[in-house]
Amino acid sequence: MDAIQAMCTRRSVRKYTADKVEEEDLRTILNCGRLAPTGVNRQAWKFIVATDARVRRSVAEATDYGKFIAEAPVVVAVAMGPDAACPNEDSAAAACNMLNAAHALGYGGCWIGSNGNATSERVGKVLQLPEGWKIYALFSIGVPAEHPTREKKALEEVVSFNRF
Ligand SMILES: Cc1cc2nc3c(=O)[nH]c(=O)nc-3n(C[C@H](O)[C@H](O)[C@H](O)COP(=O)(O)O)c2cc1C
Repeated sequence: MDAIQAMCTRRSVRKYTADKVEEEDLRTILNCGRLAPTGVNRQAWKFIVATDARVRRSVAEATDYGKFIAEAPVVVAVAMGPDAACPNEDSAAAACNMLNAAHALGYGGCWIGSNGNATSERVGKVLQLPEGWKIYALFSIGVPAEHPTREKKALEEVVSFNRF
């Protein structure tokens, strides 16, 4: 699947089969996150990959709206360090790259809101972040057991040229 097709067909997946994420695919997905743009090229992030079922369950329990990610074989948390110039944007860029890459490889995932909220705090504790680091993004990866379609606004509705 090429990049345009992947971006146009990705949808959040909240149900997964029991199949695993192949190690080489996971590496490719994480590498796509590593290569995302960052403010001042700081790359002040760490992608914490939860593959252990107990850790995944603890992370899922620490979320408000992501209990279902315990059922995904892989959960990735994007933590940003004190050197980040633009942690909000950097973490979102990395998470988007990884979700699109996962979809392009036949996997599905769902972003769980974890920036500046109680979920971020609790997940940070579970994953034992050092001082000065915070969770900014969190998402699952697994083989889809559902293929949701979702209404999207028309392009004309969200785009204007030269003025609002
Ligand atoms: C910042 C952010 C936070 C989100 N948080 C959650 C969440 O906590 N739980 C959840 O089930 N989905 C969450 N989502 C997924 C959105 O609900 C989903 O992206 C949206 O409904 C559009 O559907 P799509 O991803 O299939 O295009 C989040 C998405 C984003 C970008």
